[in-house]
Amino acid sequence: MDRLCGPARVMIVSDLDHTMVDHHDPDDLSLLRFNALWEAHYRHDSLLVFSTGRSPTLYRKLREQKPMLSPDITIMSVGTEITYGEAMLPDDGWEHVLNQKWDREIVIEEASHLSHLKFQSPTEQRPHKVSFYVEKERAQEAIATFSKTLKDRGLDVKIIYSGGIDLDILPQGAGKGQALAYLLKKFNSEGKLPTTTLVCGDSGNDADLFSVPDVYGVMVSNAQEELLQWHAENAKDNPKIIHATERCASGIIEALGHFRLGAAISPRDITDYSQYKTEGFIPGLEVVKFYCLYERWCRADTENSEKHLQDMKHTFSANGVTVHPWGAEQSFSDAVEALRNCYGDKQGKPFRVWIDRISGQQIHSDTWVVKFRKWEFYGEGRRGCITTAILQSKAGPSEQCVWLHLHQTWLNEMGIMEESGWIF
Ligand code: GLC
Ligand code: MG
Repeated sequence: MDRLCGPARVMIVSDLDHTMVDHHDPDDLSLLRFNALWEAHYRHDSLLVFSTGRSPTLYRKLREQKPMLSPDITIMSVGTEITYGEAMLPDDGWEHVLNQKWDREIVIEEASHLSHLKFQSPTEQRPHKVSFYVEKERAQEAIATFSKTLKDRGLDVKIIYSGGIDLDILPQGAGKGQALAYLLKKFNSEGKLPTTTLVCGDSGNDADLFSVPDVYGVMVSNAQEELLQWHAENAKDNPKIIHATERCASGIIEALGHFRLGAAISPRDITDYSQYKTEGFIPGLEVVKFYCLYERWCRADTENSEKHLQDMKHTFSANGVTVHPWGAEQSFSDAVEALRNCYGDKQGKPFRVWIDRISGQQIHSDTWVVKFRKWEFYGEGRRGCITTAILQSKAGPSEQCVWLHLHQTWLNEMGIMEESGWIF
């Protein structure tokens, strides 16, 4: 990935539904915990890859519904579509690989002879993926018939059963594991092989990920029977794969700690930041910490004390200003005074703040320009800002950091700027 100059320190390759995203967690707390950890400690030198069974249409829908980070790479449709960056530029080389011994029309034709199959929605039928629903009791029979008939017709396919209901037919060279192996090979040829890779999953279509050589793996605590069974039959002696005790994204955090891949305490889980010592100044962490405090203050998840206000006040330079997204300027001291009245104004509401795509540039020995996207979630909707902050680290035992300037500009829903024609 061009965003990093060298090899990623950690590359996380995670499934989405019931792995990164917990559909039984209405507050999305485990996802938010992961987000804060990633942005504070990993974003600057690591890569985040989402690998989902969803088509681009359903993937975008999920991103609209859940407080998800922007991945560096998105692998969709069970490893048959690889795209890069926020612009989601497709990897054409991968598509070429998938055309071997594949003809989706033949798959569709043969499916019409199988009565227990039901086609999934048209959005989930993709150039290299044909998907059905089939009941658990009928799955083995359907897989056996399908593999025989498709082989007889000259195709070489991979048949995957997931979640006790979904049946996907893909080219043999496809799948989440093959897509990852392809990426690793590509990184290797560019001299950018990640130092460590952690794969995360919960269901049948993730088994492939755990088969890639040399990767660490976490099956989240809520993993499906079909994945656990695959593990018991194929990988139970592999010490690099664990079955977490925590659900979904919290299970991923658990794995980062278990394998000692880096920081494994989310800034969201820390109540007293003065006790939280890190080696050196981490600009991303400063941003995440402040917005955690801000969210707690507005939700009244922390006590209404003069000390908290003073702590926030000391975060900002007395001479600095904040430029609000609606185009108004306010001194930091006035902004902190205004915060006094905001205590608890989001109490009992589903208000959350999360930070995405933090990047920092050191412009002086102690000064950083930090850019990020800040999202606020209200329950009915969300709003986001492209944000730039200038941060200065203060040497000395307190290792305090001071914000010199903050500038925010509204983002539209999915973070894409609509205006064109403006250059400077
Ligand atoms: C996602 C896809 C579906 C697929 C399933 C399992 O739910 O939308 O088409 O069958 O993942 O891979
Ligand atoms: Mg899943």
